[in-house]
This record gives sequence, C-alpha cells and structure tokens, in this order.
Amino acid sequence: MPVEKRVFGKKGWKVSEIGHGMWGMGSWSDSSDEASLDALQLSVDLGCNFFDTAFAYGAGRSEVLLGKIVKANPERKLYTATKIPPKNMKWPSKRGFLLEDCFPPDHIRTMVKKSLENAQLDHFDLMQFHVWEDAWAEDERWIRAMDDLKSEGVISSVGISINRWEPWNGIKTVESGHIDAVQVIYNIFDQDPEDELFPACKANQVAVIARVPFDEGTLTGNLTVDSKWPEGDWRNLYFVPENLVPSVERAEKLKLIVPEGMSLPEMALRFILNNPDITTIIPGMRALKHVRSNIECSVKGPLPSDLHHQLRSHRWDRSPTRWSY
Ligand SMILES: NC(=O)c1ccc[n+]([C@@H]2O[C@H](COP(=O)([O-])OP(=O)(O)OC[C@H]3O[C@@H](n4cnc5c(N)ncnc54)[C@H](OP(=O)(O)O)[C@@H]3O)[C@@H](O)[C@H]2O)c1
Repeated sequence: MPVEKRVFGKKGWKVSEIGHGMWGMGSWSDSSDEASLDALQLSVDLGCNFFDTAFAYGAGRSEVLLGKIVKANPERKLYTATKIPPKNMKWPSKRGFLLEDCFPPDHIRTMVKKSLENAQLDHFDLMQFHVWEDAWAEDERWIRAMDDLKSEGVISSVGISINRWEPWNGIKTVESGHIDAVQVIYNIFDQDPEDELFPACKANQVAVIARVPFDEGTLTGNLTVDSKWPEGDWRNLYFVPENLVPSVERAEKLKLIVPEGMSLPEMALRFILNNPDITTIIPGMRALKHVRSNIECSVKGPLPSDLHHQLRSHRWDRSPTRWSY
C-alpha cells in the first residue's frame, strides 16, 4: 500500500503521514504484547515508518515492543520516537514547575539510558520531553544535555510534547531553534494549534506530530454516555460525565455528516491529512483492522474541500481542567 510520506522538518526524513501511537499497548487495559506486536508488524508491512512511544507507557513495556519491531525489520528504516518522563512524574506540568522539578540534566541522561535499555537499541531518532513549559525555552541545562546526547550518537533529534489543550505553551521553544519536532493534540475538535503553533513550526522548520486524532476514542464514534472501562484504565478518569456526555453529543452531530461509504474514524484522520503543516499523525492502534483502515486513509488522501470546510465549524476550544491529564 503506497503510504504517502512527508518531510520531517529540518531533519529532512521522509516519514509516513500515518504513524503509530503506542500508548495503549503499554498502559491501557486488555493490551496483549502478542497482539500489539502483530499490529506493529502489520503497520510496517503496510508502509508505516514512524513509531511513537514513551518510558511512561507501562514503565518501558511499550519501548520493549518498539525495540522488538525494529529488530524484526532490519531491512527497513523505522523512525523511533520516545519520551523522557518528568522527574516528578506529574502530568501535565504546571506553571510553577521548574526545570529541576521535571528535567534536570542527570535525570535526562538516566532516563535516556533506561529507554535504550528497554528497547535494546543503541539510538533513538527522536527524544521528546513528555511535558513542557515554555518558560524553559532558553534554559541552557536541557539544551546542553540534549546536545551531549546527540554528540554521543544516542539521539538524533529533540522534541517537546505539548500539554493537553495548551498549544501556546511551546511556541517560544519552537522559535528558539533548539528543537526539531513538537507533538500536539490536533483533531476535528482541537483545531486551535492552527492559530499560532503551526505557523511558528512552519517558519522554523519544526516537524508537527499530530497526536490523539480520535480524541481518545470520541471520534471513533464508538463511545456512548454509558461507556465504562475496566478498573484501572486511564479512560475512566478522563471520560468523567462532564467530558463524556458533551463529547458523545458532539460525535453524534458529526455522524450526521459522514458521507456514505466513509466512517467517522476515516473522516477524522483524513481531516488531519488536509493540513500540510502536519508531518505525521499517530493514531493509537492495537487492533489489526484499525491498523489497516487507518493506514488506508493515506491512500484515500485528504477530504474533499467542501467537507473539510464544513468540519471546521466543529472546532471545540477547551481549557485544561482537573480531569484533563
Ligand atoms: N502527552 C503525550 O505525549 C501523549 C498523550 C496522549 C497520546 N500520545 C501519543 O498519541 C498516540 C495517540 O493517542 P491515543 O492513543 O491516546 O488516542 P487516539 O489515537 O485518539 O485513540 C486511540 C483509540 O482509538 C481506537 N482506534 C484506532 N483506530 C480506530 C479505527 N479505525 N476505528 C475505531 N477505533 C479506532 C484505538 O483502539 P485500539 O487501540 O483497540 O486499536 C484506541 O482505543 C498515543 O498512542 C501516544 O503515542 C502522547
């Protein structure tokens, strides 16, 4: 299947416009490593070459899977992205957090080493900070720590993962020239990174990784106001009634305009493909049928412009709140 490639900012890598998000397979309930490896291998077979994980996804469980899939496909260039957790293990970061609370240089080094050990790899293509405060943009400590890791050949590039619903909280860092990529929530609801973040990324040749394309499940159309997950699953904390009910209501409105022959998840992914500022989209996918249908969206391409235009009015600007980790 010819998956379209896009250029990864100033690094110039050609990455598949549909990548693979690996949070669920590390941390969500009912994940099986065997099924996850099958999903990852299918992704590779269908032309996906960008994989996003984090130490925090099951304390290395997802990184172990990434290493296995890289080793199983020595003939393919697979781009590996992982994340350093904040030292205080608090998501999201808050305005008062200092760099030493989250990313002191010794913690950066220790965690990169642990991630390499988990994956049994000697290098990651992209190392991201798993929370971010723009106040840290010019702090020499993280800049030097990442430069050293690059000189040692254990990482090739640096990125920040912007806290949920704070697309403004990374712009100074993008403009500083010290990073290669941002990872941000962008989907039919969360269109606000278009306002300032994406123009800044474009001007500074910073790659954009669009995460959470299905709004954690809302935009698959499969949630109802009664949806519940097994005990311990993070989604029980996120989809509290004050989030679940309006999310489902908004998804129901979208279902009314999905064209015949298209599904809501397909419309959601192809909506993002319309934006040339996006480098790669990383849907979380463990089921083989999801891998197949999501990667197929690249073959189908962006949505027709009238539908894309119609979807712009479904923008939903939200602010962080007590349940929105
Ligand atoms: N702070 C951060 O840096 C941060 C935070 C959140 C996410 N992320 C990254 O972004 C990735 C994506 O976000 P996410 O996984 O949280 O949420 P998401 O991609 O919005 O949604 C994932 C959910 O959608 C389901 N799904 C996928 N394709 C589908 C399809 N075609 N039809 C129906 N359902 C489908 C998945 O099911 P199955 O899994 O069962 O296939 C899973 O339940 C993560 O995996 C992670 O890599 C980063």
